Amino acid sequence: MQTFWYKNALVYSLDVETFMDSDGDGIGDFRGLTNCLDYLAGLGINCLWLLPFYPSPNRDNGYDVMDYYDVDPRLGTLGDFVEFIHQSRERGIRVLVDLVVNHTSIEHPWFQSARQGKTSKYHDYYVWSDNPEPNPALVAFPTVEESIWEYDEQAGASYLHHFYKEQPDLNIANPKVQEEILRIMGFWLELGVSGFRIDAAPFLIEEVGMENAHLFDLKQFLERMREFLANRSADAILLAEANVSPDQIPVYFDEGNRMQMLFNFLVNQNLFLALARQDAATLKEGLKILPSIPHNAQWLNFVRHHDELTLDRLSDEQQQEIFAAFAPEESMQIFGRGIRRRLPPMMQNDRRRIEMTYSLAFTLPGTPLVRYGDEIGMGDDLSLEGRESVRTVMQWSNAANGGFSKASPDALTRPVISKGEYGYQQVNVAFEQRDPTSFLNWMEHLIITRRQCPEFGSGKWRILETDKSAVFAHACEVDKTTVIALHNLSDQSCIVNLPEIPHQHLMEIFSDNFSLSRQQQKYDPLDENSYAIAINAYGYRWFRMSSMD
Ligand code: GLC
Repeated sequence: MQTFWYKNALVYSLDVETFMDSDGDGIGDFRGLTNCLDYLAGLGINCLWLLPFYPSPNRDNGYDVMDYYDVDPRLGTLGDFVEFIHQSRERGIRVLVDLVVNHTSIEHPWFQSARQGKTSKYHDYYVWSDNPEPNPALVAFPTVEESIWEYDEQAGASYLHHFYKEQPDLNIANPKVQEEILRIMGFWLELGVSGFRIDAAPFLIEEVGMENAHLFDLKQFLERMREFLANRSADAILLAEANVSPDQIPVYFDEGNRMQMLFNFLVNQNLFLALARQDAATLKEGLKILPSIPHNAQWLNFVRHHDELTLDRLSDEQQQEIFAAFAPEESMQIFGRGIRRRLPPMMQNDRRRIEMTYSLAFTLPGTPLVRYGDEIGMGDDLSLEGRESVRTVMQWSNAANGGFSKASPDALTRPVISKGEYGYQQVNVAFEQRDPTSFLNWMEHLIITRRQCPEFGSGKWRILETDKSAVFAHACEVDKTTVIALHNLSDQSCIVNLPEIPHQHLMEIFSDNFSLSRQQQKYDPLDENSYAIAINAYGYRWFRMSSMD
């Protein structure tokens, strides 16, 4: 029987630079991360997604790569990387790495050579134009960049860049560039990675400005990547960052021969609208508009990640509703379409609501993502620029610098949060490990329970209609075993009717009563003769259903 490990993985994303510093220079490194693997294994995660760790001038947090075949010397060496992979594998943890090949850094030797003009063999690695259209609608970072073209004096032409001007787009229509990309993949696969997060996938196959693009269908490159991957590693995967409309999703999965996984941006945005409205309707709609996907394909569900919470698929009014609920001040918003906050501050640190949100994201059809710091309820630092606000260093203990580094505080790669309710003095791993009622212990319980319920990851799912619009209820089934989850998005407790499910078949496996942090009303045992189920304000209840035959 073929299994798809990624369908029931627990993915944890982190940036090596901000996770753990082993040598006291103020910058996280691979040795530091390797020392934390027991912590991660203990948390129950079994797949790591590493943000870019390659040499980079860091205009875009490492998403501007100047050498695809090395580790940024500030973070360690290739030797440290291999040891990290080995130690991860020892603990049953797979590693995905970011593949950032829509663009390079302007400091990449290919670009430096390409600027010398047509005589350079790298000139056609990039996309050039003599009369470019600014095309502001295609700019990925509106409010920061105005055009997708930048004039380069040395080249005497403009180069394409969907992102910052320091990130020139590669010319994917050039077969030599495709070969380079496969070679990069081959390198990291040989070093033991279990796949790649394909950064900016829609831009990678976008034809804008590419002269040769018409010669073949760029989308087929996704198939080529997959074929190459499968030839080199039996179970490695491609996870694409593709925030696209529902009709574009099949481009990435196709017949199950392109990407195995996609970030679920559509559900993420509809989830936040539902949370803001305290009404499940838009979440249901968000799920219903997803096209069905091939049997080997999977969604990656997330609450927040390292970028802004983008709301670009929602209408202006809907965006405003979410801003009003979760980011009312302009300083909390970014790019005119997103939020640069972590979840706890968005929810005024209301533990009930934060738990319910993660519980919901973990049960939605797909594989869940946890981002470093989520598990301890870390906050953000709005005094930092742009998306840096949600990229502060990990808070390990109440030692100086939150235990992240022994460097002097002004040498830290990014400041630690040291003030207020999210300060490292109280929000940290060591403290929360000792407190049985902590968010960390709750999260561990959530992760373990989720891993015991593969139905959520690989089951057939259906939405259960209830009589309460604030309650989202759904069932997931594999091989005749079914799990059911109920989430109350509102701040009012209620009794919800689940007319399809007789109670004698339900056994509770997880709920907000499991949280030891609050003295709150316990749920009464289910009354066998009723279809009514009590649920607290921002409550959640998971059930396993015994056979109804
Ligand atoms: C992706 C990354 C983001 C980066 C951009 C350009 O969207 O998630 O952080 O800025 O690509 O590489």
